Amino acid sequence: MLTDKFGRTINYLRLAVVDRCNLRCTYCMPENGLTWIKQKELMTDEEMLRICSVFAELGVDKIRITGGEPFVRKNIINLIGNLSRLEGITDLSLTTNGLLTEQYIPQLKEFGVKSVNLSLDTLDEERFFTITRRKSFNTVMKTLEALLEHDIKVKVNTVVMEHQNIEDIIPLVLLTQQLPIDVRFIEEMPFNGNDGDISLKWNYPQIYKHIREHFPEIEKTADPKSSTSYSYRIPGFTGNIGIIAAYTRSFCGDCNRIRITPSGVLRSCLYEGTGINLKDEMRSGKTDEELKNSIINCIQNKSRDGWEAQKLSLTESQIHQSMATIGG
Ligand code: GTP
Ligand code: 5AD
Ligand code: SF4
Repeated sequence: MLTDKFGRTINYLRLAVVDRCNLRCTYCMPENGLTWIKQKELMTDEEMLRICSVFAELGVDKIRITGGEPFVRKNIINLIGNLSRLEGITDLSLTTNGLLTEQYIPQLKEFGVKSVNLSLDTLDEERFFTITRRKSFNTVMKTLEALLEHDIKVKVNTVVMEHQNIEDIIPLVLLTQQLPIDVRFIEEMPFNGNDGDISLKWNYPQIYKHIREHFPEIEKTADPKSSTSYSYRIPGFTGNIGIIAAYTRSFCGDCNRIRITPSGVLRSCLYEGTGINLKDEMRSGKTDEELKNSIINCIQNKSRDGWEAQKLSLTESQIHQSMATIGG
């Protein structure tokens, strides 16, 4: 079992398989001028599988595949199949924007993928284009339907942005009336695309207040341990509502996660690099035991509250990093 020095057990690995994406969400990345990780700097499928197997031996039982957009990576479905067969991994999930996902849903089901977190910031086709800079709204909606048809648990991720999608909040809440989905409203975090320019009007209390004005009957429900989201429901509705305080970040205390970037950098926190590149370690011939020692050392140094520490010393270069490069 992996435990850090504050007694937190780390059993959840977020594996970012690629930095590229086929959308250009304004809060995430600019349209142009991005430098992508070079092919040879990306971990290979074999390296990803090996490192995940090492993590599984150390007690990780949940892997979430993120990106960029996971399906932009060549043959990602094979890697998902192989990860699903790793001993000890009982929860394999992924976060996707839904553009290329639909055709793979039957295989995801067959591999036992537990849940798919789907990014969807609006229910309006034009606003979708304004936010993502691509005309793919209908494709994403078809993916949502197909996931539900295949009985795969769906959590919709909606980043809440002033002047962009406030009018979508209530329609998105209403989606949970009939559909067995979770819709989670996320505070916008300062990343590349938005230039760190966030007054964050739409923080957790504000989002909650807005929903409550329309649905005074909203009730709090229990939050699963280590969940990033505060859970609510509207009585009589089939699905659930969540609010993720990603910016005001109040969930470090229960953090059970660790991340690997597409180039193999181990991050003990969303906001913290470790200097350890597991891909380089594998390529230099390290044994599994040596890799385990590197990982254990890194987790020992996981900070108690990475965001607080970071906020105090936030520099421009740190802000100007897209979520896509570190796997949301
Ligand atoms: P599950 O609990 O496995 O469903 O995952 P999740 O909800 O954390 O993952 P998802 O990929 O859907 O991310 C949802 C939002 O939470 C995104 O905006 C992430 O950036 C944010 N998030 C995920 N992990 C962290 C974290 O460690 N810190 C912060 N601040 N935000 C996070
Ligand atoms: N702030 C908050 N959430 C973000 N995501 C990407 N960029 C940001 C940001 N700046 C979310 C996406 C996706 C998840 C993995 O991360 O909506 O669903
Ligand atoms: Fe792509 Fe997700 Fe970033 Fe949007 S938020 S550009 S879907 S990686």
